[in-house]
Amino acid sequence: MILVTGASGLLGASLVSLAQEQRREVVGLYHRHPVRIDGARLLAADLMDEVESCRIFQELGPSSVVHCAAATDVDWCEEHPDEAHRINVTVPSAIAGITSRSDARLLYISTDSVFDGGRGNYAETDMPGPVNVYAKTKLQGEREVLRQNPTALIARVNFYGWNAQNKDSLAEWILKQLNHGRLVPGFSDVVFCPALADDLAEVMLALLDRNLAGLYHVAGSEPVSKYEFARRVASTFGFDPAQVVPRRMADAKLKAQRPRNTSLNTGKICAALGRPMPDVEAGLRRFAHLRESGYADRIKN
Ligand SMILES: NC(=O)c1ccc[n+]([C@@H]2O[C@H](COP(=O)([O-])OP(=O)(O)OC[C@H]3O[C@@H](n4cnc5c(N)ncnc54)[C@H](OP(=O)(O)O)[C@@H]3O)[C@@H](O)[C@H]2O)c1
Repeated sequence: MILVTGASGLLGASLVSLAQEQRREVVGLYHRHPVRIDGARLLAADLMDEVESCRIFQELGPSSVVHCAAATDVDWCEEHPDEAHRINVTVPSAIAGITSRSDARLLYISTDSVFDGGRGNYAETDMPGPVNVYAKTKLQGEREVLRQNPTALIARVNFYGWNAQNKDSLAEWILKQLNHGRLVPGFSDVVFCPALADDLAEVMLALLDRNLAGLYHVAGSEPVSKYEFARRVASTFGFDPAQVVPRRMADAKLKAQRPRNTSLNTGKICAALGRPMPDVEAGLRRFAHLRESGYADRIKN
């Protein structure tokens, strides 16, 4: 059985939904936001409660765990460093210990933000340099996970998709602005390799199936600025890309510092899978198809 933490989050819900579709045995854990995913078993748990976590893991006895749960709000983490540390370091460390003792596979979801963003195209061998509390805690989480469970898998990611919860991923927010006829500000000085959460979910399950271990950069194959990405969202959904206007992150007043170019080199994951990661167009085509096919409405709670 696969246990997915953070099942009410964007990636966790996509994972539970896909695993369910593939008729795998899967259980999802949420915390404050109960979600429904067709046919899937979902349970509430506060992973910061170590006793409760141990009990749940013991009762369920998963053969694989995908740990998606985290404090992901970068500005919130900056203002709550101790809580961010507990959720993003103490919790994955405890889960890594539990999975190591029970011989369960562990996949820990990390982030492209572990890099300082000075140059981009980062490979797994490149030195991280986190510039904010969120990124620092996620990197510490990686290190703790490997210390407690040296056979764990770590995937550094960045993604968009259809949220189960009532909140917007980057692409959903862009679409909302376009739908309201508003101008969409897009950072032209921030570069990333966006991937659709559902494409990542497929890769995550494949990684578990192949019994791989260690660090992988699992991202879209194409580096783009957030400005360019917003223009591509507009084109995909039949809006005028001119509705997207370039802005500079350097001019925005954000609480936490952000890295500028976190594009990831996906050579290692492509070699492991024997295929390339999807580019921006392929991801957005599937994103649009998921709406047309009713998935976006079904996953929304
Ligand atoms: N979104 C991105 O583009 C992005 C980029 C890079 C890396 N990542 C990483 O990818 C992973 C998934 O991100 P996401 O965007 O899908 O997450 P998300 O939508 O922000 O959801 C976070 C999840 O963590 C759960 N959670 C938080 N505190 C918890 C606790 N104490 N006990 C149990 N569950 C708890 C939340 O549960 P409730 O909501 O039910 O409370 C929710 O399911 C994270 O590890 C994140 O660092 C995300």
